[in-house]
Amino acid sequence: MQADIAAAHAMPMRLETEPARMTAAVLAARSQGRRVGFVPTMGALHAGHASLVEAAAKACDDVVVSIFVNPTQFAPHEDFARYPRPLAADLGLLERLGVRCAFTPPVEAVYPRGLAERIEVGGPAEPFEGVVRPGHFAGVATVVKRLFEIVPADAAFFGAKDWQQTLVVKRMVAACGIPIEIVVCPTVREADGLAMSSRNAYLSPADRARAVALPEGLAAAAACWEAGADVAVAEQALREALDARGIACDYAAIVDPESLGPLADPRGPAVAVVAGRLGATRLIDNRPLPVRRVVDRAAG
Ligand code: PAF
Repeated sequence: MQADIAAAHAMPMRLETEPARMTAAVLAARSQGRRVGFVPTMGALHAGHASLVEAAAKACDDVVVSIFVNPTQFAPHEDFARYPRPLAADLGLLERLGVRCAFTPPVEAVYPRGLAERIEVGGPAEPFEGVVRPGHFAGVATVVKRLFEIVPADAAFFGAKDWQQTLVVKRMVAACGIPIEIVVCPTVREADGLAMSSRNAYLSPADRARAVALPEGLAAAAACWEAGADVAVAEQALREALDARGIACDYAAIVDPESLGPLADPRGPAVAVVAGRLGATRLIDNRPLPVRRVVDRAAG
């Protein structure tokens, strides 16, 4: 495996924009017994994406990365037009990471039948981001299904930072019977704990300093959780951390990590999810919470 990765580093990265050629290349590699890993992205790559590529390179012989800013997952008032598109820098990073192929299709290649086609996932797509961004997860599920048709890899790698998205993708894959392994990799954070996100680039220096409230709030909620506090108390600690830094809270909740519904067992496991708005920028984050042995009603 090490030798294969080293060989991939020595090979120039292939640039592909055409779906049929992309599919043929993946099928050819797999027919030679090579395991292919796929990292779908919207570009503006950062250390979080690099960690997905590295995980794919460890587990697979060849890594394909797509860069496609998907119009169908943005509402008309959202940031599709101004979403960062530093393509040359992205390709340079992928080349340095030893990626075998970068797939950068035009919109009409991904959506040959137009943008109206939609896959509704239901279940974990409904709460939280599903409420704040109606239609967002239909756009994600639709594009990821299409990308999985074009890049029929053995495994696809997603970041746990977008926890709800990983559940949506897993549900879409199960419902559509797509034979691909979904690998969820840990969130990569800045030194102060802020989760890496392409949207962090939108933050002014003052908002960037305030954004640390999200990981701080998650840490406060986790401390309450570990001390055995009621879910409502831990959720309040999360909300207060955002309030303390003047961040408008879209949601702050502790829920079942698979369904995103209320906890059937107050001992967990659970996930704390949070979204806040700093000016025009929305940030989301989450923190998995382990099973706890005691629940101290008095702490509530
Ligand atoms: O997480 C993202 O970057 C996007 O939602 C994805 C999965 C590439 C689909 O456009």
